[in-house]
Amino acid sequence: TRAWRGLIEEYRDRLPVTATTPVVTLLEGGTPLLPARVVSALTGCEVHLKVEGANPTGSFKDRGMTMAISKAVEEGAKAVICASTGNTSASAAAYAVRAGLTCAVLVPRGKIAMGKLAQALVHGAKLLQVEGSFDDCLEMTRKLSENYPIALVNSVNPYRLQGQKTAAFEIVDALGDAPDVHCIPVGNAGNISAYWMGYSEYAADGTATRAPRMFGFQASGAAPIVTGAPVTRPHTIATAIRIGNPASWHLAEAARDESGGAIQAVTDRQIAAAYKLLAQEEGVFVELASAASVAGLLQACEQGAIARGQRVVCTVTGNGLKDPDWAISGAPSPVTIPIDAHAAALALELA
Ligand code: F0G
Repeated sequence: TRAWRGLIEEYRDRLPVTATTPVVTLLEGGTPLLPARVVSALTGCEVHLKVEGANPTGSFKDRGMTMAISKAVEEGAKAVICASTGNTSASAAAYAVRAGLTCAVLVPRGKIAMGKLAQALVHGAKLLQVEGSFDDCLEMTRKLSENYPIALVNSVNPYRLQGQKTAAFEIVDALGDAPDVHCIPVGNAGNISAYWMGYSEYAADGTATRAPRMFGFQASGAAPIVTGAPVTRPHTIATAIRIGNPASWHLAEAARDESGGAIQAVTDRQIAAAYKLLAQEEGVFVELASAASVAGLLQACEQGAIARGQRVVCTVTGNGLKDPDWAISGAPSPVTIPIDAHAAALALELA
């Protein structure tokens, strides 16, 4: 065995890079594929979690960003820009530092988790809080990148999806073949499209014998692909997927239809329950949006859309540390005691 070299080096022949592309990496990818004992027992399926919170900046965005930033440098960019619900901005800010680029980010004011805000700021990004939604921010960044010398690194940049498709490669490489079903949260709809691209490539060249059915899950207050119309005022506790007009809408529908899968809505209540289940029963601390994949799996199994005995992978997209406010708000307050071991023993119900 040898050390992981980052996903561009690991999957170089399957990515649009050449020998002269300057590789900007934080050694992203190579994340755990973790058997989920409790979720498996609850569903009767063989469930694995693709733990993307283990990436360098704590989310799957690093897979896309190593590609987008490397190509931006190759093409001579000096500055990059993105709209974000938080994770893209955290990742762009870190990779821009690595590349020596300046980074601008537009986020919906008051609607991004504290850890993500901290990441963009600590990496020195120029951060603007917009009095609007993510969709408003994305429209603004598209205009800015058209009119000024600044490269757009949102997932409408095709290199982002190229990088993100490597998660599907890793899953097939680990399992020996594609799973029967893949469950994933859907926001701007880039990631489900990227996984489908990765699975399809492996199936097309025989590296896998098949591709999985793709199940995407949106929050019920921000479920435009489910309802079939953009949502003007999206709302959900899962701020990362609070998106009303996804950029990769049609690609996501193609992934759903070509794979024989589904895109469904899960309520905030279901998302919060899955978040708690992952933390307290599986030992995996994810952010709320990430729990949508597991909430959706539980729902689809209950409804009979996914049969018992299937091999299922759920992507959990981001690290729970991103959103300490939510984590703390749902937990009991810690007990305060004097410097006294006996007091500790009493509080711990040992004595
Ligand atoms: N999970 C997390 C933790 C996310 O941050 C996102 C998207 C998604 C799921 C959905 O992925 O957009 O490819 O369908 N976050 C973007 C951002 C929008 O700005 O960080 P998607």
